[in-house]
Amino acid sequence: MGRLKVGILISGRGSNMEALIAACRAPDAPAEIVLVISNVPTARGLAIAAEAGVATKIVNHRNFADRAAFDAALDAALKAAGVELVCLAGFMRLLTERFVAAWRDRMINIHPSLLPAYPGLDIHERVLADGARFTGCTVHFVRYETDTGPIIAQAVVPVRPDDTPDSLAARVLEQEHRIYPLALRLIAEGRVRVDGERAFVIGAAAPDAVLISPTF
Ligand code: GRF
Repeated sequence: MGRLKVGILISGRGSNMEALIAACRAPDAPAEIVLVISNVPTARGLAIAAEAGVATKIVNHRNFADRAAFDAALDAALKAAGVELVCLAGFMRLLTERFVAAWRDRMINIHPSLLPAYPGLDIHERVLADGARFTGCTVHFVRYETDTGPIIAQAVVPVRPDDTPDSLAARVLEQEHRIYPLALRLIAEGRVRVDGERAFVIGAAAPDAVLISPTF
């Protein structure tokens, strides 16, 4: 069986993209990154991808009349590259209902909280303001409502009393770089089944998701 063809959508730094590219370099990797698309021409991730020998493309949302036209261009580029699974990795554009439906159960996202808690932006600030003792990150299939969809993998990160939004973001990011490649591998190996709004990892100890808990 061939390797799963993956397209990554980014808007900026691209550290999760980099983790996915690195994981796919393993000789036994069940997935390959065939295209990285950025909507921001200056995104740092574009240079990282190019350096790694991955094809890149800029689809600048500013060049399109509306979201539908922008999403159609994304869709066309992904299809032209033969993409079978889309990974959102710090992609900062809202996608249309049509695009999300077209890639249903074939598009995943990483979010720096334990969803369904703390969807949206300014997550670490809100976690600290609430006095939460634990936070983390989530990989999930994408549904139309922002940061919703069947959960594939999560990692827990304890909040320290002296944490700042930046220190917390850094420790959560370390875990993002572990669980995003893990989730991709599970999907590419055919070990993730989606049933409506729940994802099941076949053969995982936890029946509904993979939970990684770093040492406290
Ligand atoms: C990550 O925290 C990710 O969870 C969120 O946006 C950030 C992107 O960072 N969706 P990077 O571009 O992958 O470094």
